[in-house]
Amino acid sequence: MGKLRFGFIGTGGISQWHGRQLLELSGEAEIAALADPNADSRDKFIHKFGLDGVAVHDDYRDMLNECALDAVVICSPHTLHFEQATDALKAGCHVLVEKPMTCSSAEAERLIASAREAGKLLQVSYQRHFQPEFLYIRKALQDGAIGKLTSVTASLYQEWKQLTAGSWRAVPSLSGGGMLMDSGSHIVDVLLWTTNMTPVEVKPMLHRHGAPVEIDSFTAVRFAEGPIASLNVVGFAQGWHETYMFCGEEGAIRYDNGRIALLRLGKEPEYPELPARETNQDKSFVDAILGRHEVLVPGEFALKVVRLTEDIYKAAGYDPLAEID
Ligand SMILES: NC(=O)c1ccc[n+]([C@@H]2O[C@H](COP(=O)([O-])OP(=O)(O)OC[C@H]3O[C@@H](n4cnc5c(N)ncnc54)[C@H](O)[C@@H]3O)[C@@H](O)[C@H]2O)c1
Repeated sequence: MGKLRFGFIGTGGISQWHGRQLLELSGEAEIAALADPNADSRDKFIHKFGLDGVAVHDDYRDMLNECALDAVVICSPHTLHFEQATDALKAGCHVLVEKPMTCSSAEAERLIASAREAGKLLQVSYQRHFQPEFLYIRKALQDGAIGKLTSVTASLYQEWKQLTAGSWRAVPSLSGGGMLMDSGSHIVDVLLWTTNMTPVEVKPMLHRHGAPVEIDSFTAVRFAEGPIASLNVVGFAQGWHETYMFCGEEGAIRYDNGRIALLRLGKEPEYPELPARETNQDKSFVDAILGRHEVLVPGEFALKVVRLTEDIYKAAGYDPLAEID
């Protein structure tokens, strides 16, 4: 069998990470085509990876029609994901789509159905599923290392407002929302994936700080399994900080910018050994296409993230897509 032929839809910032990871698999995958209406983005990508001669298109539909691809990686603004992923699946491609998978649960459900009908794989690019710290937390919670979970506090601080002003991220019709829809999607992912719990009630408060989309969101989430979580997504911050505290009846796990501690009453914190990193978003996608394992971040899981994000916006009375740009 020849190499898997990949196309990119969107060749901006994050696409370069996927490009690098795919090219590490040069025996199994090749980048055959790029689609992006911005020629500068495409040229930077071509230059960075020495891809002279790769097929280039302004419109992803032309790429899908002309390039006989096996798979696409979608790295475009959020509200474009649904149509681009649907069209790619219908063109017979497996799809790796950046987060958020879609901007509504109705779209997410339709996209999952399209993948099933096409018999193609749909994976969402939540990289924390491959990071040792989060693999450790998920397994420790499953193994009962801190007993019954009682609460979670998840917080992400970024200079999101300052860095996104004037970009598509501040245009509701392209972003589908603010920091919760964007970087916040990762901590919604961590909250749902590590705990495997089902949210049943949300109480949010949002703040825009004068921006066209929400910047800060503070949400209390109640889970069917009993615990309550606090989800704090702070986009008007100074610096970058990601923290979680998982509290249980017999201990707690603290994550602080990549450092994990296991805490127990009256004892010094333990710094546990973490599992090895075995794969990444792109390698696992290629391995799933080649039948080596299941899709590790399937659309069915990403739907839960989309649904909780949507529930938070709805409970706050906020409909980003009803906003006029
Ligand atoms: N997983 C992560 O950690 C992570 C980090 C950053 C971004 N992302 C996600 O990646 C996606 C892209 O973000 P980015 O930071 O690379 O943005 P970016 O602005 O750097 O790049 C977006 C690219 O999409 C292109 N584009 C716009 N309209 C298009 C269209 N119709 N067809 C094809 N391309 C089009 C733009 O010209 C631009 O080159 C978003 O979904 C974002 O949330 C994920």
